[in-house]
Amino acid sequence: MGNGIAHVAAQSGFSVTLIDISEEALSRAIATITKNLGRMVAKGKISDEDQANTLARITTSTSIEQGVKQADVVIEAVNENFELKKKIFQTVEASVSEHTILASNTSSISITKLAGVTKRPEKVIGMHFFNPVPIMKLVEIVNGLDTSKEVYDVIEQLSKDMGKIPVPVNDFPGFVSNRVLMPMINEAIFCVHEGVATPENVDEVMKLGMAHPMGPLRLADFIGLDVCLDILNVLYDGFKDPKYRPCPLLVKMVDAGKLGDKSGQGFYNYSKN
Ligand SMILES: NC(=O)c1ccc[n+]([C@@H]2O[C@H](COP(=O)([O-])OP(=O)(O)OC[C@H]3O[C@@H](n4cnc5c(N)ncnc54)[C@H](O)[C@@H]3O)[C@@H](O)[C@H]2O)c1
Repeated sequence: MGNGIAHVAAQSGFSVTLIDISEEALSRAIATITKNLGRMVAKGKISDEDQANTLARITTSTSIEQGVKQADVVIEAVNENFELKKKIFQTVEASVSEHTILASNTSSISITKLAGVTKRPEKVIGMHFFNPVPIMKLVEIVNGLDTSKEVYDVIEQLSKDMGKIPVPVNDFPGFVSNRVLMPMINEAIFCVHEGVATPENVDEVMKLGMAHPMGPLRLADFIGLDVCLDILNVLYDGFKDPKYRPCPLLVKMVDAGKLGDKSGQGFYNYSKN
């Protein structure tokens, strides 16, 4: 997600510093951005010069303290782990200017809780991009309890300047996107668990009957079954409502390491053979 956000911001004319823990991770990110820009050149959507200018606007750093110094907006996209994000937010805050806005791309962690670990809760906001970032238009902008209207306005304009369509939501578990999507995916898994239909047939019903471009189980594999389980647990714990209980089949598949595309096996098989 981080390389996608950097790609789109740089292509929109912003100077970007991409930060990760190692030079290898940064090289992989730049290679991905270069490949994705190259694909756009091949399709005639941008010129060679646009590609070169976009890449020239991205610098990289393995030091958060150095990398964020000049930033007006920092968009955090580290792994979905509150303790890690807390550490990152506090490190970032110690190195940025007073006016700097701290945004998180979290899919499910409370923005209000993240804001609470900083001394500037009014300048903390969710910027929830969707995968793949260069293609998906939506940015769900998540207002924490104390996020100021001025900060919301800046982030709304920034999202538009990045060619995205911002939609404001308030900070509740799962925001809107995952609160609506994950129960549907979970119910699709229950259909397989209870023998109502095969994964292929569940997906076929939703594609042909509801005009979904991708069935819920194919989508779950794409997102990652571990990620789906984590988000369902956030909904379940956050609302204390049994309607969000993860299907036992989902729990079993994650325990078995069947995580979807990234592990080669989920509801479908993605191994090379
Ligand atoms: N994958 C998706 O479809 C998706 C969609 C929307 C939002 N998100 C959210 O975006 C965030 C990132 O997800 P992802 O799928 O890109 O994860 P990822 O595991 O692919 O990337 C996380 C990156 O953070 C880096 N990182 C970890 N610790 C770090 C540290 N201390 N300092 C600097 N960098 C560090 C890792 O090296 C890695 O490159 C999560 O909060 C996730 O919930 C993901």
